[in-house]
Amino acid sequence: MAEDASLFSLRDARASDMPYVDAYAYAEGMDVIPSEEGVRAAVNADDVPVGFLRIQRGRNGVAHVNPVVTCATWRGFGVGRALVEEALSREGELRLVARGASVPFYEALGFSPIPWEAVDLTVVDDCDGCEMREECCPRPMGKRLVEGNAG
Ligand SMILES: CC(C)(COP(=O)(O)OP(=O)(O)OC[C@H]1O[C@@H](n2cnc3c(N)ncnc32)[C@H](O)[C@@H]1OP(=O)(O)O)[C@@H](O)C(=O)NCCC(=O)NCCS
Repeated sequence: MAEDASLFSLRDARASDMPYVDAYAYAEGMDVIPSEEGVRAAVNADDVPVGFLRIQRGRNGVAHVNPVVTCATWRGFGVGRALVEEALSREGELRLVARGASVPFYEALGFSPIPWEAVDLTVVDDCDGCEMREECCPRPMGKRLVEGNAG
């Protein structure tokens, strides 16, 4: 059995990856990802995407994650952590609106709650008016590379 680190690698997404990306997003009830712009893919040994992360830059200049998704059969192998940590090391700060179910994932990565005003709702899903809001329990979260200074 190969070591976890060799199970997948990260690279910029290509147009040919987008059917996978959209299938993974669709499976989570998320909108179509319009293009590969800002998308990093985690790919397996056959160069097939097994997860992705899209960065969108807010008007405040801060990088927002929207979204990060790991293919269901690949969860628990460190794909989500690798994608987020790489983006954080490149951007220095990440903000996002976490679905309630993914809050423990972000907490495991050291993200903290931030005020709603700190997220740019033009680049993350605006939860106001969403019929799933109560069930989803969305929570704005962020992390800066500087220790203990999220948001
Ligand atoms: C959230 C998601 C991206 C995590 O991806 P993943 O590849 O399984 O995550 P990893 O294997 O890298 O896990 C990283 C850490 O988070 C923890 N973690 C992940 N999901 C968790 C959960 N549901 N509850 C508690 N901890 C969790 C892992 O235990 C791991 O901790 P460790 O590194 O300290 O051992 C994946 O579950 C997913 O695609 N969910 C659906 C889409 C979604 O909700 N995306 C986030 C909102 S944008």
